[in-house]
Amino acid sequence: MVCLGNICRSPLAEGIMKDKIKKYQLDWEVDSAGTGSWHAGELPDVRSIDTARKYGIDITDQRARQFKTADFDHFDQIFVMDRANRRDILRLAPSTAHGAKVDLMLNQSSPGEDREVPDPYYDDDGFEMVFRMVDEACEQFVRQHV
Ligand code: 4NP
Repeated sequence: MVCLGNICRSPLAEGIMKDKIKKYQLDWEVDSAGTGSWHAGELPDVRSIDTARKYGIDITDQRARQFKTADFDHFDQIFVMDRANRRDILRLAPSTAHGAKVDLMLNQSSPGEDREVPDPYYDDDGFEMVFRMVDEACEQFVRQHV
């Protein structure tokens, strides 16, 4: 799960997907990262923590990190939150096959539409919408694999 800072959107996405993995008893590894390094080592934004908690998900074990090229080998699927994330991540792809692992998260719930998860950093009210969008996308993805 990849966004810009790895403190707002992708920590929610990581928490939501891990919650579904538990629910559906899947044996998957999920992690999140940011294209930027400014927030490395930080806890998720308190607004993400509070929103996740509202839905019974604890994301306080997460610490922000920057996406690294080795992630392309380690993970089978790389979900980005917006088109800028996609551009930045694809620049790092070692090959076309690695790049093919990258897709917008919301293409799971709205296939082919290239919809973005809006950055809620400057919008206190945006976190709830981010949660719902990502939850729906994760649910669709997981259902294709159970
Ligand atoms: P995120 O949100 O990419 O969803 O983690 C942001 C977090 C921090 C900043 C921008 C977006 N920032 O500019 O510091």
